[in-house]
Amino acid sequence: MDSKFGFPIRTGQALRAVERALALDSIELRGLHCHLGSQILEAEPYARAVETLMGFAASVRASTGWLPEELDLGGGFGVRYTGSDQSPSPHDYAAVVSAAVQAAARRLGLPVPKILVEPGRAIAAQAGWTLYTVGCVKEIPGVRSYLVVDGGMGDNPRPALYHARHEACLANRASEPPSRTFTVAGRYCESGDILIHDVDIPDPRPGDLLAVSCTGAYNYTMAMNYNRVPRPAMVLVSQGRADVIVERETYADLLARERIPGRLASLRERRRAAPSPGQPRP
Ligand SMILES: Cc1ncc(COP(=O)(O)O)c(C=O)c1O
Repeated sequence: MDSKFGFPIRTGQALRAVERALALDSIELRGLHCHLGSQILEAEPYARAVETLMGFAASVRASTGWLPEELDLGGGFGVRYTGSDQSPSPHDYAAVVSAAVQAAARRLGLPVPKILVEPGRAIAAQAGWTLYTVGCVKEIPGVRSYLVVDGGMGDNPRPALYHARHEACLANRASEPPSRTFTVAGRYCESGDILIHDVDIPDPRPGDLLAVSCTGAYNYTMAMNYNRVPRPAMVLVSQGRADVIVERETYADLLARERIPGRLASLRERRRAAPSPGQPRP
């Protein structure tokens, strides 16, 4: 209930929103929508959301006569970031949702609405990998071994923002067995810039390629220029071909929209022209 999104049902705000929309000529109210959150690794919360929305639909019909044609359950379908994430298949989610909608419609005497979903990361996340170049290894004996790479929170803010977990391998030595555990640190000047806390890989050497998996969603779109680091290129790999689909950002790109106001530019010119202290006047 404590969320910046949406209209809560319990406070009556959702019903008031429906009544307001029905009263407006410019709005055609077609259905009800919810979005539960992200990376939901079970189908059951969607069944509960259906119960809640269909129950609300029944009370709205009782008070206004309006019936939703569509029920939109939003996104949030989980993906496998690490081996411990087990997500239901799209088929499993669909089976649970459609059974819940039909059962609720029967119980409440409502027609079965059209069911919509809005998958985001479930479409794109597993298609993406990020390649980093290994810079150096910092050993703290008895504590940990940091492996430092040439990217980090600028291209993938998710681990720093919400402790997202990823797996990785050395792409150029993928067939070698892991030797020990490393902590992958990014290049940015934040101690929180840790991409992966524990990853088992062969002893990395400068120049090795670290491939981090499952970075196709909420990575490039969240990428930033912190520390004035340009964003990497994006390459589409398909059917044995590799095509650049987003160019690597340059320093010229970073400066392209920056301006020095004319009045400061002329001040700078005047300073340059003025003799510095101790310098003989012409
Ligand atoms: C309304 C809505 N629908 C769908 C999505 C997609 O979510 P996900 O990528 O977790 O499937 C979002 C993401 O925040 C959202 O806010």
